[in-house]
Amino acid sequence: MTFHLEMREIVKRFPGVLANDHVSLAVEHGEIHALLGENGAGKSTLMQILYGLYQRDSGEIRLDGAPVPLIDTTEAIGRGIGMIHQEFMLVRSLSVAENIVLGLDGGRLGGRLDLDGASARVRALSERHGLAIDPSALIEHLPIGVQQRVEILKLLYRDARLMILDEPTAVLTPQEKDGLFAVLRALAAEGRSVIIVTHKLHEIMDIASRVTVMRDGRVTACVETAATSERELARLMVGRDVELKAVRTPQRPGRAVLSVEGLTAHDGAGLLRLSNVSLDVHAGEILGVAGVDGNGQPELAQTLLGLRDAEQGAIRLDGTDISGLTTAERRGLGLAYIPADRRHVGSVPELSVADNASLGDQWRLARLGGLVRDDAAIHRHAAKLVRRFGVRAAGLDFPAGKLSGGNLQKLILAREIMREPMALVVEQPTRGLDVGAIETVWAELLAQRAAGKAILLISAELEEILNLADRIAVMFEGHIVGILPAGEASPETIGLMMAGRRPVEVG
Ligand SMILES: Nc1ncnc2c1ncn2[C@@H]1O[C@H](COP(=O)(O)OP(=O)(O)OP(=O)(O)O)[C@@H](O)[C@H]1O
Ligand SMILES: [Mg+2]
Repeated sequence: MTFHLEMREIVKRFPGVLANDHVSLAVEHGEIHALLGENGAGKSTLMQILYGLYQRDSGEIRLDGAPVPLIDTTEAIGRGIGMIHQEFMLVRSLSVAENIVLGLDGGRLGGRLDLDGASARVRALSERHGLAIDPSALIEHLPIGVQQRVEILKLLYRDARLMILDEPTAVLTPQEKDGLFAVLRALAAEGRSVIIVTHKLHEIMDIASRVTVMRDGRVTACVETAATSERELARLMVGRDVELKAVRTPQRPGRAVLSVEGLTAHDGAGLLRLSNVSLDVHAGEILGVAGVDGNGQPELAQTLLGLRDAEQGAIRLDGTDISGLTTAERRGLGLAYIPADRRHVGSVPELSVADNASLGDQWRLARLGGLVRDDAAIHRHAAKLVRRFGVRAAGLDFPAGKLSGGNLQKLILAREIMREPMALVVEQPTRGLDVGAIETVWAELLAQRAAGKAILLISAELEEILNLADRIAVMFEGHIVGILPAGEASPETIGLMMAGRRPVEVG
């Protein structure tokens, strides 16, 4: 039998990192193949080599049995390979059709962009594959789940036969994920092949027929999903048993540390994003904020941190009104923030791991009363943090922007926790993390709770909220639908509240 794709003994070295160490991967025609591995294991690198974004140092790639020379992305697309990246690459201010023909010669007619022709083709493809997309819609007006279907449509427009999806479900709601999987199954049934990179073991069991597991740049196994279990996959990947079950010891919460009253805010387009939001987070308590992405959670976090203005409402930190303070002042008073957007808000990608580890705290680590930068102290601090949180970096001088997605997240989380804050606003803390890393992050958050910190945990992962939170607030369309003690919350109740139903209607 000829495989659709064979990658043999692929080696890729970055300065100081052996990202792919003789990696082999084979995919059959019409197969949905999962690629699993710890943060920094080398999955994205391998996929970027396949897609022509990086060149392999050695090793062989075959498509339908024929050797593929070193190629760039245009040539990869020409050979029927398509990739959807961890971070979408759509131009937000352009329409669906414009995004799809962007950079394609086929969309041109006599040197002009033939948008009408393209739109008609996009519409036909969308109907044929049941994607329900309006070619004239602007990207910025589309929910994430639909944007992702646009990415898929883009691949279909180029007639990709082998589709690579790098963590496609990290930002999807459960319903959107089901929709995506239905589309993928239909594409596979047509004989197209799919490689899906994901950290979610149950998704692998659900969608893939085989899974290749990577650890530390090497392949540790390739197994049929029918012949394995989530537990075994976790073990193959992390090298030990992982029990994703947080143990929340009973604890009496203390005084209200972070209080919000009547917070109301509109966005730039005049849409109401926060509507009269009130809540208290107590010392030694994790207050979970559940909700489908895009129901005001990021706006809540940003307003608390002073990254966005509120028209009404008060924010108090340990009794002090901080509504008028700058972000730096709020941080200085003991408010920590772990943002969902690690690359743009939480870190400075050009700076080193060491510098990112002490962002905002350089003065504290400086010499001569804050006048002279103390590189040794900055390095010592970073080394401690990297060790305690298991951040995989080629070195402390390595640019933070080149860390794998999961390792950058661990770095930011570690920095904020090490600042010994009074209250933490934590947004989607385990998005894109492998199960081993999730275990670490959960344990650290619970340790912060035990240490008496007030934690506002915003998460779209219901499992995370149910495992960690003492009380659960559910947000829908900018307001809080209700707040329940954890003991009264079931996935069903919270799920219904996430759709806007009040707890009384539910319970
Ligand atoms: N452009 C680059 N320059 C230097 N090192 C890099 C570069 N890209 C990736 N690396 C390193 O290669 C290793 C593998 O990274 P990669 O992004 O492939 O991991 P991953 O398996 O996709 O992880 P994650 O699950 O966190 O997304 C990491 O140590 C990373 O820091
Ligand atoms: Mg990756």
